[in-house]
Amino acid sequence: MAAQNAHLRLGVNIDHVATLRNARGGTDPDPVRAALLAQNAGADGITLHLREDRRHIRDADLDAVMAAVSLPVNLEMAATEEMQRIAVKHRPHAVCLVPERREERTTEGGLEVAGDQNRLRDYIAPLRAAGARVSLFIAPDESQVEAAARVGAQIVELHVGAYAEHCAAGNDDARDAELRKLFGAAALGYELGLEVHAGHGLNFVNVGPIAAIPEVVELNIGHFLIGEAMFVGLEAAIREMRRQMNLARL
Ligand code: PXP
Repeated sequence: MAAQNAHLRLGVNIDHVATLRNARGGTDPDPVRAALLAQNAGADGITLHLREDRRHIRDADLDAVMAAVSLPVNLEMAATEEMQRIAVKHRPHAVCLVPERREERTTEGGLEVAGDQNRLRDYIAPLRAAGARVSLFIAPDESQVEAAARVGAQIVELHVGAYAEHCAAGNDDARDAELRKLFGAAALGYELGLEVHAGHGLNFVNVGPIAAIPEVVELNIGHFLIGEAMFVGLEAAIREMRRQMNLARL
């Protein structure tokens, strides 16, 4: 078993700063500013997902964030040829392969690794040759963890979305069953020499049990943090606008 008290890293996913920017089409809010704030606030990494449809993060954001922050950048992407070219060119610290369907609102399930081993093995090799640490975003399923080790990934990120949904719905039995699967998958990943991460749908209420899984060394959290920032930051933003307006009338 891994050391329970080792520092648990926080990767802050800034995608939804870009979602908000794109809703208006201008330059605010700026994902780079968010990445720098996350860095100042003690984040251990910046995560961004360059989707095939560029619905939030765009290619220029990846360039700008990588140039601006000193933290490791974790690029989430679908296992397509286009994304492989981009990753090899940009050489982020880590690449996390995720399943992607255009119509989904967010990453809905884990990557099918067990049924796609030959393709993924070939896909991962150039990423590793470019210096990226390769992570696979998978459901907490033994066969997927074992397959991840076989295809040459160094990391598995366990999808905790089902756990988060059961928490939100108050389905305690289903939540506990999912948590048992997550504990089992994390232990197996560690045994197989994989680094174990977790993410998706985490918030202040549900993060505790996931943060307590001893083999998990990194959590990637985005949507909740960006939403919460509105509530903890809106008051200060309104006060500053009031101040600027008052200054103009002195
Ligand atoms: N990890 C992975 C692999 C993801 O795809 C996502 C969502 O983009 C996250 C973590 C973050 O999830 P959330 O935005 O729900 O915190």
